[in-house]
Amino acid sequence: MRPVEICQDVYWVGAVDWECRNFHGYMTAPTGTTYNAFLIKDEKIALFDSVKAGHGDEMLCRVAHVTPLDKVDYLIVNHVEMDHSGSLPELVARTKPEKILTSPMGERAMRAHFDCADWPIEVVKTGSSLSLGKRTLQFLETRMLHWPDNMATFIPEDGVLISSDAFGQNWATSERFVDEVDRSRLQKELDRYFANIVLPFSPIAQKTIETIESMGLDVRFICPDHGLLFRTKDDVAWVVSRYKELAAQKQKKKAVLVYDTMWHSTERMAHAIATGLSEHGVTFKLMNLHVFDHSDVMEEVWDAAAVFVGSPTHNNGMLPKVADMLTYMKGLKPKGKIGGAFGSYGWSGEAVKDITGALEAMGMDLPVDGVRILYVPTHEQLKACVEMGRTIGKAIADKLG
Ligand code: FEO
Repeated sequence: MRPVEICQDVYWVGAVDWECRNFHGYMTAPTGTTYNAFLIKDEKIALFDSVKAGHGDEMLCRVAHVTPLDKVDYLIVNHVEMDHSGSLPELVARTKPEKILTSPMGERAMRAHFDCADWPIEVVKTGSSLSLGKRTLQFLETRMLHWPDNMATFIPEDGVLISSDAFGQNWATSERFVDEVDRSRLQKELDRYFANIVLPFSPIAQKTIETIESMGLDVRFICPDHGLLFRTKDDVAWVVSRYKELAAQKQKKKAVLVYDTMWHSTERMAHAIATGLSEHGVTFKLMNLHVFDHSDVMEEVWDAAAVFVGSPTHNNGMLPKVADMLTYMKGLKPKGKIGGAFGSYGWSGEAVKDITGALEAMGMDLPVDGVRILYVPTHEQLKACVEMGRTIGKAIADKLG
């Protein structure tokens, strides 16, 4: 387990988790993830972030290739979430740092998570800096990207931005740099991460990028705490540009139809709605929740103009996978969507009303009443679904051209 040099005396010393399959609800199958940590060897030695509990040995082994553990002077805790601080107690015990630097909210989170009364915690804020000798650490709080404690650190002498969760990807790889992997696959993992983690904080992502640009920082490397690292100015420009697009949630003429189905009636309704959408040139994704998980769906929702959700009525409500989907989607706060509800029923038929309420609670515009069909849709009854797709397809075409 070797460290990887990013630029002179700046090393990746993190851990790769090939087996992670569920990251607080974000489904990371089959990609796994990485927990990145970074070491800077200067007159003082600084170690940034740590890794999830259970992966501490892997990180410490890499650190030990660069420096004896007790020579680490400073620990920088950019984020206290457990994927980056689970091994912190072990790290503190092994390195006995002179200082542990974190944001004001980081200190609060650290004291709530750890028995750390005797840790040498020092609070830093936006504008604070610390000299390592030849290099300087400049701190920038990035609150709510993705917790209140998040902070980024910039090293101007090397142009390195250690960005914490921002610009990450949940992707376990043997490669460490984005120029070593397929770009379309990288974009997929970057987008999926954004859609499943950063989406509700899109305005904060936009503001953070504006702040960094207004500061005129010469960023030559972006080192996120998950996934692959950006080490050329072209790649830095590429990911900043992509993040601007993601944070703007710029919509395409596209709809997502997500549903569960008991005996294929609701599925037929989904196909009929799609037929209506296609008449107005709207592309669509049909996503049966027995085939796609809620993270797959969000990967498609972020740039869709419309979201249709369907479920048959089961025990006076919607099927459980649909309830899960709606709960997950609501938390990620997609903006500016048109919504549609549909589903079959046998007797009571509450599912469509409940889905309608959930979509309205997300602030979606529902120009068409939800469509319910008794038991098995006839060809005639499916015309109501086609019409729903047609009406919403036209609304999308009118909106996006
Ligand atoms: Fe990668 Fe918010 O933790």
